[in-house]
Amino acid sequence: MEPTIDQICVAALKEVEAATTSDAVQELNTKYLGRKGVITQFLRSVALLPPEERPAAGRRANQVKQQIEAACQAAMARIESAAAERKDAIDVSLPGRKTAPGALHPLTQIAYRICDIFTRMGFEVVEGPEVESDYYNFEALNIPKNHPARDMQDTFYVSEDIVLRTHTSPTQPRVMEKRRPPVRIIAPGKVYRCDSDITHTPMFHQVEGLLVDEKVSFGDLKGTLTEFVHQMFDPQTRLRFRPSFFPFTEPSAEVDIQCVICRGKGCRVCKQTGWLEILGSGMVHPAVLENVGYDTTRYTGFAFGMGVERITMLKFGVDDIRKYFENDLRFLRQF
Ligand code: DAH
Repeated sequence: MEPTIDQICVAALKEVEAATTSDAVQELNTKYLGRKGVITQFLRSVALLPPEERPAAGRRANQVKQQIEAACQAAMARIESAAAERKDAIDVSLPGRKTAPGALHPLTQIAYRICDIFTRMGFEVVEGPEVESDYYNFEALNIPKNHPARDMQDTFYVSEDIVLRTHTSPTQPRVMEKRRPPVRIIAPGKVYRCDSDITHTPMFHQVEGLLVDEKVSFGDLKGTLTEFVHQMFDPQTRLRFRPSFFPFTEPSAEVDIQCVICRGKGCRVCKQTGWLEILGSGMVHPAVLENVGYDTTRYTGFAFGMGVERITMLKFGVDDIRKYFENDLRFLRQF
């Protein structure tokens, strides 16, 4: 017995529903609705029915035709949107995309290295504010208001009593105020001076060091800094301590190292002297200890401050300081 139009309809809709490719839907469309399709032929056969049955059979066949058409369209839409979704999904067969890992800025690398050397000697890393009070930046460090060591032009004043710190030394009184000896700290950070040329930028970096305890001598300062230079540069590097002046140390010394470029023979970098200045240092001035309430008959200390740019330039042999702040990747990628 021939299947009825209703049976054909159920079968067709089921097949269209199950189709998973647009080709399959296309084929079903042709199978049922094409010129020689099942429904088309059924419609033709309506003419052979007795006249009173024709209208109902014709109407029903047309309904089924529309239902199958709609089902085919819906199936097409379903297949297309699934394909679009797959396009957004991860294709696990593609080769992976490399993410550039990035790197530390050369100044950061050297600042970390400096801190590393000192932390292994027992120093603790601390930080202080870049916007600093006149008191900690100058006064507490034995630099009174009208002292000639305050070069007005070098300091960025925020207001009469607030400055951008001109050195990392204010971390010394800040830490000492809060702690009792022994104090062993290093303090890296940004400092600001109103200065700009090939060897100066208005912002640069320093690392401060401070050690206060009983019986601390200049010999401890020399030993500590010699060990630092030997680890930072190489164990053969010679040092010299040159008498100098800082209001917050007494005695004060500037430390030179044998030129790392010419090994002391004399060259452009060391201006033919064979020596390079790398830091300022000294025994903490008793006035600084008194300002934080330390007993100066019991405690002594040493301090030092070094420029990170200076050490980085010597380490990497790039002597234009501005290069470190231009963010040119062709430069930065070399370190
Ligand atoms: N603060 C000084 C400067 O910026 C460097 C310095 C010198 C720091 C001697 C010290 C020190 O702690 O003892 O020029």
